[in-house]
Amino acid sequence: MSRSARVELAVGFVATAVILAGLTFAIAREPARLDTAQAQLLESQVDDAMTLYAQNCAVCHGLAGEGIAATPALDNDGLRGADEDTLTKTIARGRFDTAMPAWSLDDGGPLSDYQIAELVALIRFGDWSKTKDRVVDLGLAPLVPFSADPDPAIFEQVGDLPDGATLQKAITLYATNCVACHGPDGLGTSLAPALNDPTVGTKPSDELTRTISLGSPGTLMAAWQSTLTSEEIDALTTLIQRWDEIPAGAIPAPDVPIPTTEESLALGETLFAQNCSRCHGPEGQGTPRAPALNVKGFLAETSDLAIQQIVTLGVPGTPMPAWGDRMTDAEIQAIVGFIRTWEPSAPEVATPVRGGGGPPWLRAAPQSPTDTGTDWRALLLVFSVFLVGAAAVIGGYLGLQGDGPKQPAE
Ligand code: HEC
Ligand code: HEC
Ligand code: HEC
Repeated sequence: MSRSARVELAVGFVATAVILAGLTFAIAREPARLDTAQAQLLESQVDDAMTLYAQNCAVCHGLAGEGIAATPALDNDGLRGADEDTLTKTIARGRFDTAMPAWSLDDGGPLSDYQIAELVALIRFGDWSKTKDRVVDLGLAPLVPFSADPDPAIFEQVGDLPDGATLQKAITLYATNCVACHGPDGLGTSLAPALNDPTVGTKPSDELTRTISLGSPGTLMAAWQSTLTSEEIDALTTLIQRWDEIPAGAIPAPDVPIPTTEESLALGETLFAQNCSRCHGPEGQGTPRAPALNVKGFLAETSDLAIQQIVTLGVPGTPMPAWGDRMTDAEIQAIVGFIRTWEPSAPEVATPVRGGGGPPWLRAAPQSPTDTGTDWRALLLVFSVFLVGAAAVIGGYLGLQGDGPKQPAE
């Protein structure tokens, strides 16, 4: 046998041995690997499901699956132990004659079979405290209590309008059944469109009545015909068409705190520094351009939802912009949550900052709200890379001169 043949043989032998050893190892580990793969699949399903839950279910079943009013809790041992098939059917088909809609595409809902399977996995294996954080971080925390009390003084006033009794009845119905999704005063929320809007109010009566009676399939807008009488639905239609006659504040938001997470508070702090501090001061103490927010009086008198509404809609006719055009609800709620953290230490009287907050180069031009300004870190990085590159070129050049071919000695 030639030397090279023997080397080839040896290499072949070693390679086979390595492959065999690898295979044995892999086979030995297979069950463990399968378990890990399955666990990872489950984890990613539950992760998707937390977002689906926030978008579709939290409004009725609560921030953390705890249930709201008559809507049952999903965080319970009965459901965790329930059989997969029953849960799937309940979610896919809904519960006839209750507020629980059908969710599967086959039944006119918005969710695929895979998404429903993910929600079933959440109910059986999920972590509800993580789900709660997801709902808050997405700005989809439901209004609890679900209903609001109409403002008594405005309610009286409405009674004096033509057909005031019908409007009063509708306001009461709206405050009980619709405010959680369509918002205080019909202003809309991240869940449902505004109803006090002229584009809705000018729709023909029978179109509005049909939407309220039959719902809007595949959305959170349920059919109300089994819950409300046709007279009540007509009253709601009248309210929507005549909303411009109803004074603002008739259906205020229930006074509920906006929930926060560590992540949302950090986001709120950053967004405040980027978008609000140049007018309201870095510590919210006010500047000549805008009033203080970090004072006892303001924080004690103004609920979270009221602050959210002011920030979203702005104050027309003043420099206070409407941030709803430029930020998501989640971002605005994060700022409100951050502003609320000032309350325990808020002074009785603010000490406004002269000339606005922050260093002058940040103050100069209004920035778009999500613009983080110039990214100094990126600039620094580019500059360092440039410096290192330049040093290398110069170093190389000097080195070349030193080691270069010597002039032959004459
Ligand atoms: C508009 C309100 C509403 C929404 C939105 C909603 N549900 Fe429901 N859900 C209900 C009500 C009300 C019931 C109780 C029905 C009954 O009385 O049988 C219910 C029941 C259930 C049940 C059965 C609970 C039990 O104890 O038997 C499950 C599971 C469920 N919902 C899951 C979901 C999931 C998942 C979503 C989101 C995809 C969702 N629901 C969205 C109102 C809602
Ligand atoms: C669980 C959330 C939810 C509740 C509660 C709810 N709605 Fe809705 N509503 C929606 C959503 C979402 C839409 C948008 C549907 C679509 O995109 O087609 C909607 C749409 C509507 C529309 C159609 C608006 C248009 O642009 O034509 C009307 C009218 C309406 N809702 C009235 C009501 C009334 C009245 C109540 C109370 C009795 C009510 N809704 C309760 C979620 C809700
Ligand atoms: C261009 C300057 C400017 C910017 C930027 C600005 N505001 Fe304002 N803000 C104002 C002014 C001016 C008022 C007072 C309006 C008035 O006269 O009622 C105000 C009022 C408010 C109020 C109501 C205060 C009260 O006492 O009733 C809140 C809350 C508020 N701003 C929050 C914010 C938040 C949060 C941001 C950042 C997202 C922000 N503002 C950015 C100028 C500004």
